[in-house]
Amino acid sequence: MKITYYGHSAILVQGENGSVIIDPFLRQNPASGIKPENLVVDAVIVTHGHMDHIGDSIEIAKRNNCPIIAIDELCKHFVGQDSTLQTYPLGLSGFCEFSWGSIKLTQAYHGHGVELGENLAYALPVGVILKIDKQIFYHAGDTGLFGDMRLIGELHNIDIAALPIGGRFTMDIPDSVIAAEMIGAKRYLPIHYNTFDAIRQDVGKWQKEMLKRGLQSVVLENGKTYTV
Ligand code: NI
Ligand code: MN
Repeated sequence: MKITYYGHSAILVQGENGSVIIDPFLRQNPASGIKPENLVVDAVIVTHGHMDHIGDSIEIAKRNNCPIIAIDELCKHFVGQDSTLQTYPLGLSGFCEFSWGSIKLTQAYHGHGVELGENLAYALPVGVILKIDKQIFYHAGDTGLFGDMRLIGELHNIDIAALPIGGRFTMDIPDSVIAAEMIGAKRYLPIHYNTFDAIRQDVGKWQKEMLKRGLQSVVLENGKTYTV
């Protein structure tokens, strides 16, 4: 399994049988390291309805003729924007296998607003568990700290977990370190930081705190790939 970070919460996960992009916020993030038209994927996964996660999902799904996978209500809002879109709705704990691997949605504690179209809409935010090439990746989405992260870690033998560390809208450095201790993954990737001033963090400080607790961290510059 290969993980490529495109800034903010955007992650490309590539396996032997296909690729998926999570939360492709690219055009509005000049530092992302890729243009949406250059992505070749089998699915677009969106953790929640905020624009810094929906990003270029519609464009990428249409270009690649592939589905947007998200929680049911968010899929309905996507189709409301463009009835030609393919979507694959799931509920919380919903699981599905595809040719590229499998996905399961987990809970995330975060805002429910959907920033698509003019009317205020709602859909539960989620985290995502992907199993690709027998390896397990947990993308926590945008979330505050919650105790059931321990359960998520107990139920899945997580090889790598992407955790928001930016604070303000999600967990900050101390909370993400507590989360990592609960999850018990083999390694952790920090996300959702330094994109805007409001979520500026010293990632070196995060790495130090992780190291103190014997937790392995993988910090990726935008556009860089890590092979799990
Ligand atoms: Ni958000
Ligand atoms: Mn966000």
